[in-house]
Amino acid sequence: MTDFGLFLGRFHPVVVHLPIGFFLLAVIMEWMKKGTEDGVWQQAIRLGWLTGAITATIAAFVGWLLANHGTYFETDLFLHRWFGIGIAVIGWIVWWGKSKMKNTHFLQSKWMPIAMAGLLLVTGHLGGNLTHGRGYLLEYAPFVGGGVAEDTLQSNFANLDSIVVYRDLIRPVFEQKCFDCHSEDQARGGLIMDNEEGLLEGGDHGEVFVAGKAYESELVNRVTLPRNDRLFMPPKGTPMSYQEIRLMEWWVNEGAAFDKHLKESTVPTPIQVLLLREYGIDLEPKPLVETIKVAAADPAVLTKLSEGGYRVNSLAQTNNLLEVKFKGKVIDQSQLQTLLDTKDQITWLDLGKMEVNDAMLEVIGQLPNLTRLRLEQNPITDAGVKFLEGLKNLESLNLYGTEISDAALASIAKMPSLKRVYFWQTGVTAEGVEALLKDKPELEADLGFNFDAPNDAQ
Ligand code: HEC
Repeated sequence: MTDFGLFLGRFHPVVVHLPIGFFLLAVIMEWMKKGTEDGVWQQAIRLGWLTGAITATIAAFVGWLLANHGTYFETDLFLHRWFGIGIAVIGWIVWWGKSKMKNTHFLQSKWMPIAMAGLLLVTGHLGGNLTHGRGYLLEYAPFVGGGVAEDTLQSNFANLDSIVVYRDLIRPVFEQKCFDCHSEDQARGGLIMDNEEGLLEGGDHGEVFVAGKAYESELVNRVTLPRNDRLFMPPKGTPMSYQEIRLMEWWVNEGAAFDKHLKESTVPTPIQVLLLREYGIDLEPKPLVETIKVAAADPAVLTKLSEGGYRVNSLAQTNNLLEVKFKGKVIDQSQLQTLLDTKDQITWLDLGKMEVNDAMLEVIGQLPNLTRLRLEQNPITDAGVKFLEGLKNLESLNLYGTEISDAALASIAKMPSLKRVYFWQTGVTAEGVEALLKDKPELEADLGFNFDAPNDAQ
């Protein structure tokens, strides 16, 4: 499709520099000339004004054509249009004055050119706003604070509970990329986006979104069109990024609520990934060890533990938690008792295959911050497991090769944080585990090959 008006209109940015050059040269010569007699200076100055007036007229004409085909901020466009025409008109008047009037006429004064230079500056700046967007000129100016709003998003997300999807994730994008044309003062297409009523009301063509159905929503359709489509939004300025569009789609699909918290929303994995990568919002619950805060253990106590046959490691530099393993082959009650000196710090404990008995589990049940406990291949029974019921932070428990039965599952069910438990080669049955999983569907219960072929394993 050819559009001759637009074809000519696109010459505006090229032509527009000519009158600026001619007029400014005329202004400079005006100030450099000496005396008022009609000589070469005056002729040159008149020529400057004439060529300026001619090219300004052409620029205004093609500019008018361009304005009719583009989408611009109305107030900037209005001023730029009439200032531009004003420049052409003044150019002609001054040229005429210089040709016909006496040298003392006000049109000959030195202030006329100064006014012209000012007008050129303002009009040029407005034109710049139209093509590059408002704030372009000073975006990178020192001390202005930089117009770039990208990072304001990142800062408010420390507290996961307070994030409201629309307010914190969607609206800031609209504000940056849509409000210029879709606000109370500037409702292009009849659409107001800077308040909730406006969004609900929609534009000239009715509602702009269908809650729950992103792909039937004009809001989503307009930003996902090919960029050169006539209907693509935003027609000026920075388009929405891929991530912003995905997020908006998800928000619409989630019901397009304005006050829904992120915590209350269903967040599919791709959106979770996006939130983490783009906004640093981590929706994965933290492992307990990252949330437990304890004081450092007394170094003397740690020495005593090592001397008592334990290998003690700190779990991470960032906390005071300890990983403890007994080095011998058999542990006795008094050796176990020494663990109570560091009962808050011990979070991983490995006592596999060490002749641990039920009575000793009473001591282990007093380590409140245990998150991983290995008790495999010990002569432990259901009665011993009962002592562990109070371990609120226990996430992983290995009971493989012990003497427990389904009766221990009642105690297991009481451990609130438990995520993984190993029952391989015990009296625990597949039926028992099935019943347990009804209560705790998140639990990973490993029955080893007992589970698939109970008869082979015995
Ligand atoms: C530079 C101005 C401008 C910007 C910025 C802008 N729009 Fe528009 N928008 C318009 C104009 C003009 C119309 C009406 C003409 C049309 O329908 O294309 C419109 C129409 C719309 C419509 C259709 C309304 C109706 O019912 O007809 C939607 C939806 C829309 N815009 C969404 C957006 C979104 C979303 C953004 C931000 C990503 C945005 N717009 C940014 C100028 C703009």
